[in-house]
Amino acid sequence: MGLLKLIIVPSLVAIAAYFAYTTLVPQQKADFPRDGWFGTGAKRPDDTKITPFKVAVPDAVLEDLKKRLASSRISHEVLEDANSFEYGFNVNYLKQVIDHWQNKFDWRKQEAILNTWPQFTTEIEGVKVHYYHAKPDAKKYKKVVPLLLVHGWPGNVFEFYKFLPMLLDPVAHKVASNADIAFEVIAPSIPGYGFSEAPKKTGFSQLAAARVFKKLMERVGHKKYYLQGGDWGSIITSQLARMYPESVYGLHLNMASATPNTLKGLFYTVVGSIIPHHLFKHKHHHSYSTLKLFTEVLLPESGYMHIQATKPDTVGTGLNDSPLGLAAYILEKFSTWTNGEYRKLPDGGLTKKFTLDELLTVVTIYWTQGNIVSSQRFYKECFADPHNFPMTNQYITVPTAHAQFPHELFDTQPAEMLATGCNLTSQVVMPDGGHFAAFEQPTHLAKHVFSFVAGLERKKHK
Ligand SMILES: *[C@@H]1O[C@H](CO)[C@@H](O)[C@H](O)[C@H]1NC(C)=O
Repeated sequence: MGLLKLIIVPSLVAIAAYFAYTTLVPQQKADFPRDGWFGTGAKRPDDTKITPFKVAVPDAVLEDLKKRLASSRISHEVLEDANSFEYGFNVNYLKQVIDHWQNKFDWRKQEAILNTWPQFTTEIEGVKVHYYHAKPDAKKYKKVVPLLLVHGWPGNVFEFYKFLPMLLDPVAHKVASNADIAFEVIAPSIPGYGFSEAPKKTGFSQLAAARVFKKLMERVGHKKYYLQGGDWGSIITSQLARMYPESVYGLHLNMASATPNTLKGLFYTVVGSIIPHHLFKHKHHHSYSTLKLFTEVLLPESGYMHIQATKPDTVGTGLNDSPLGLAAYILEKFSTWTNGEYRKLPDGGLTKKFTLDELLTVVTIYWTQGNIVSSQRFYKECFADPHNFPMTNQYITVPTAHAQFPHELFDTQPAEMLATGCNLTSQVVMPDGGHFAAFEQPTHLAKHVFSFVAGLERKKHK
């Protein structure tokens, strides 16, 4: 009882204080700039032409990479009693990864996969934006609906190489819930990532990315569309849904959380951690705990975020100069975020769900484009943009669906909690999978996207 009092009394005080604060103190009205300029020099009108694009890394860049890998310097050993990923990337396994990269990895083969679908670039707010724009066979599908698909960090559009074909031809891949619908997919590289140019000025936040992608959709001819995203993709598409609800039919997320800025949200956050089995319907959430999220996930796993949100250029300089360092930094996330238990394994469980060729393709894109620093700056801009968090606090009115993957460390909110922040029409807890859902569990993800969209499309025509 003593312990319970220790939790409940301060919680009630906190709720009361928060309630008083939100009702008595006028809250900042969420708004956002309608335009921006991240190009070099003074603002000028964008060059709106659309140019076809193919990935084609020069031989010299690949030869330089091989040379650097050959002269890698490793002078540390794993601790004798910690042959795992618990201290970070296990150096024993790193040697195998580097050997594969040097001697077995075939970039040209991966490049051909990247060039499977039509790609383009166009200038928006001064930045050259790269995107896939792929359409289904119009003879096969009666109804083709546009979808903006957004990736995250430390990923890029390569993560979609198995997911994209499912969206384009759901019947062939057996993921359709309605054989008539397929997606026209627009999948951009976030500026500063993949094959998009990096912003030249400060302030390119998630809000700016959402606005730029809205302009991109308009430029390719779509005023209204569906959204899908995980990681930054989930933050960007959620912001787009808040900023331009009139442009969005529906929002599908594979990472989602509501800020507890309503009384109900705060109640679930606090009391839901004490008696989750009484408040949350799904048994997956009967062990929900905000405290556990802080102590077991945020504290031990968010160091990278603090570094990138404060001094991205410092850590990025080293990563951009060493392929070995870059691979360790990026692939450690592909281990832990796929399943937290993999931290205990000598090889980080990296090839349980992915092949080394797949993983090294993600890394090689960062290496050859030389853009790890600009990808990391996106964290700094997230916290620096004064409009970002007030906007995040706003309720999402458009129909929203959530695919929750059980090993996604950061994504633990029950439907009841999430529904305090968005118009939640469906949440499914998937049987397996982690953070990189499109890359790891494309079939589960695609099936849920199609069932969500089929439901909304049926309603449209009633
Ligand atoms: C949720 O979405 C539905 C369907 O578009 C809409 O009718 C309803 O008004 C929305 N609810 C809220 C609270 O915005």
